[in-house]
Amino acid sequence: MSIAITYEYPESDELGIKLTAEEMGVDLVYVPFRKVSVFVNSHSFSFKSMASDYREKIENVNAVLNRMQSKNRRLYAASFFEAIGKYVLNPLSVETLCFSKFRSLVEFWRNGIRIPETVFVPCDSHDMTTSGLTIHNERVIADLIQKALRGGSIVLKPDGGTHGIGIKLAKDMETLIKFIEASNPSISNPVGFVAQEFVQKWFYDLRIIVIKERGQTPYCYPKALGRAGFKDFRMNTFLGNMVFDVSLPLDVRKIAVKCGAAVGKDSEAWVLALDAMLNIGEDRFVDDEYVKAELEKLVPSFEAVQEAKRDERMKNKDFRRWSERVEDAYQDYKSVEAYTHVKEVIEASVKRDKNEMVFHEANACPDFWEQTRNIAEINVAVPLIKCAKSVEGWSIYQRIKQC
Ligand SMILES: Nc1ncnc2c1ncn2[C@@H]1O[C@H](COP(=O)(O)OP(=O)(O)OP(=O)(O)O)[C@@H](O)[C@H]1O
Ligand SMILES: [Mg+2]
Repeated sequence: MSIAITYEYPESDELGIKLTAEEMGVDLVYVPFRKVSVFVNSHSFSFKSMASDYREKIENVNAVLNRMQSKNRRLYAASFFEAIGKYVLNPLSVETLCFSKFRSLVEFWRNGIRIPETVFVPCDSHDMTTSGLTIHNERVIADLIQKALRGGSIVLKPDGGTHGIGIKLAKDMETLIKFIEASNPSISNPVGFVAQEFVQKWFYDLRIIVIKERGQTPYCYPKALGRAGFKDFRMNTFLGNMVFDVSLPLDVRKIAVKCGAAVGKDSEAWVLALDAMLNIGEDRFVDDEYVKAELEKLVPSFEAVQEAKRDERMKNKDFRRWSERVEDAYQDYKSVEAYTHVKEVIEASVKRDKNEMVFHEANACPDFWEQTRNIAEINVAVPLIKCAKSVEGWSIYQRIKQC
């Protein structure tokens, strides 16, 4: 039986999954989930695009790799494909938790995992009465947040956001109120406000990959992707931050496994990228200026990586060749001496302050082809395909029958 992959547009991750499947000799079929009609009636279903009927194709697959970039579309896709008996990676229950930063944090907390102090206020900034009056809730929301977090700098986040978009740092009450005023319920923040203590991390954070194949215990990869820089408190790479491979101490990997299991629950197979920070406070054992200078030395080779990635023409024409060029550029970047120097600082910091690590998010559809694969040497396409293969012969209906 084959595996299906669904996505809106093939980005490098999806092209990478296809390439990896080819190399692994796995039959991977594409099934769209955008310009299609998903029809159901009392006893049957159909699944068609303008040009094709996908029903037979779908019936012949056992598992679906859900690579929809829209979180909402991913939920719909997971819910439909599970309903027709396919194993979806990640399963709907996992997607549902990962959709919300707050709901995943609650699961971490329930399982005794260290998290940033977080407060959720399920109230919108303003309400409209039936008579057209506006009721302002900004101040009460800000008060509730401040009292719960006992003052200090506060990080406000859209509950369902990604790529650091909409994440704001409020250093005082007035700014917090201003941020709350400016926010309306949206697709990425359906209700209320998620606020967190400002974690006193240093110049980096971590992305850790954990997976579970059917019949195996969950596994955490020994290396994480470190994202580093001094530009912003957010470490997202679109802000120009650099990336490093970071070896993880065994006890951190054990906690990461617990985190994955907290979200994966009783699902047979899943693949997750966890976001973690270290609340190191004042434990900056080398001078910031030293790290900044080392990062500066990496700018030309990191620019060369970005340059190689930007070659869209090559990417569309010959993805394998494009990938090789990007790989070479990353190798050059990693071979600069300053890379090892910064990596050593991060690894020493993680070792020193591993007990200060807080986990704050689980990502169900992580980017990996460019950074995680080239830097942390984890091609997430491999566990995705292996997990999908591991559930061969399994069907949700069988599970329901067993229950
Ligand atoms: N409470 C916090 N204190 C300090 N920094 C934070 C806090 N929460 C998030 N950050 C920083 O902001 C960045 C984005 O945070 P977060 O992962 O919650 O957002 P996101 O929109 O899900 O981003 P991504 O899609 O990259 O996961 C992270 O790199 C993290 O370092
Ligand atoms: Mg995140």
